[in-house]
Amino acid sequence: MKIAVVGTGYVGLVTGTCLAETGNQVICVDINEQKVKMMQAGQLPIYEPGLEVLFNRNINESRLLFTTNLAEAIAEAKIIFLALPTPPGGDGSADLSYVLGAAKDIAGLITDYKVIVTKSTVPVGTADKVTAVLKANTTVECAVVSNPEFLREGVAVDDFMKPDRVVVGTMDERARKLMGELYGPYVRQGNPIIFMDERSSELTKYAANSFLATKISFMNEVANLCELVGADVDMVRRGIGSDDRIGKRFLFSGIGYGGSCFPKDVQALEKSAAENKYDFKILNAVMDVNQIQKKVLVEKMRGYYKDGLKGKKFALWGLAFKPDTDDIREAPALYIIEELLKDGATVVAFDPEGMPNVKKLLGDKITYAENRYDALNGADALLIITEWPVFRTPDFDFMKEKLKAPVIFDGRNLYDLERMKEYGFYYNSIGRKVIG
Ligand code: UDX
Repeated sequence: MKIAVVGTGYVGLVTGTCLAETGNQVICVDINEQKVKMMQAGQLPIYEPGLEVLFNRNINESRLLFTTNLAEAIAEAKIIFLALPTPPGGDGSADLSYVLGAAKDIAGLITDYKVIVTKSTVPVGTADKVTAVLKANTTVECAVVSNPEFLREGVAVDDFMKPDRVVVGTMDERARKLMGELYGPYVRQGNPIIFMDERSSELTKYAANSFLATKISFMNEVANLCELVGADVDMVRRGIGSDDRIGKRFLFSGIGYGGSCFPKDVQALEKSAAENKYDFKILNAVMDVNQIQKKVLVEKMRGYYKDGLKGKKFALWGLAFKPDTDDIREAPALYIIEELLKDGATVVAFDPEGMPNVKKLLGDKITYAENRYDALNGADALLIITEWPVFRTPDFDFMKEKLKAPVIFDGRNLYDLERMKEYGFYYNSIGRKVIG
């Protein structure tokens, strides 16, 4: 099938590349000339495990093309994906000007039936707005489809190639058939393509992310209570997760959720409820709990160092909002660093991928280590912020040599309590007993 993808950000690139992988002919279009040149030369502008191999293969086999020319991109395409930014506008609601602008441009160019798919996370009612723009600017018949993405950074290729489900929101029969054909190869293991109306599909995306964020905030509150009553959140998690109705996944307590989706989507759903005069009480609690949880590690430190944090040096392992990404958007690390600096402490950080982005944001407000152990040199304590695999089994004896004091504040519960006791660390994690 011939496909156009408008916008080559994270979602557009993963979508375009993965659609080419099953043999479709894909043209991606972007207004950024420099970026397009870079991609034409086979350079991938984002970090995403596993994407580069697919990207290069499909470019080499001429199934994945890049252009700045919208007319050329959509000329032969049956399906046009819009993967454009929807940044929060001044009032916090998504700014749809890129999406609606592209719809208008497309309307001026098309001469035959097209399926126009919104892939960006957009507020309920956006498909209707896109339809209205198309109707106002062309008489050519076309269908608008809401097809939200559920990609997780770090495993986006797998999520696209083997999705749990594909949601397709449109009442246009022809579009349903085409979308069904397009996604057929991706759901061969039997996972469903769920067809529905546009508004339900748009809401599905927000509800999914908000529900997952709710799970996290719920477990973070359980963890905080565990600490007060002397229970262990890891045990409670296993105890409840074995019930199929609850499920084992996404129950890990920590230092709050971050990233480009959860914080934005929970807020957007709450706002959209409020606009409809509905007080979505749970969502407000989910956001409040998350704000508090981002600072929980620093509160533990303030309790431990009776003389305050001023003049102390702390090593941070992890900056990215989660492993396998260089993304630092809404990363708990940034909130923690801000608090530590405010208290007069200094920070040395190491992250396998996240340091360049933090450097751009914070410059020399903190220092950056060459590797995980160098960060520990003379530090008063280690803080574990992101659960990168490389932090899971370090050489604890060596760490003790490097650190000024054997103290760990772990925001991700990476280590076994007994082992920490054996090695003689003071070890303070989330929702578990304090060791030492
Ligand atoms: C998320 C959704 O999973 C994805 O379906 C959607 O399309 C985009 O948003 P992503 O933001 O890439 O994906 O990351 P995810 O792996 O879901 O983690 C989100 C945040 O929740 C991270 O900060 C992570 O540390 C936190 N988290 C996750 C927990 O604190 N506990 C958990 O048990 C799981």
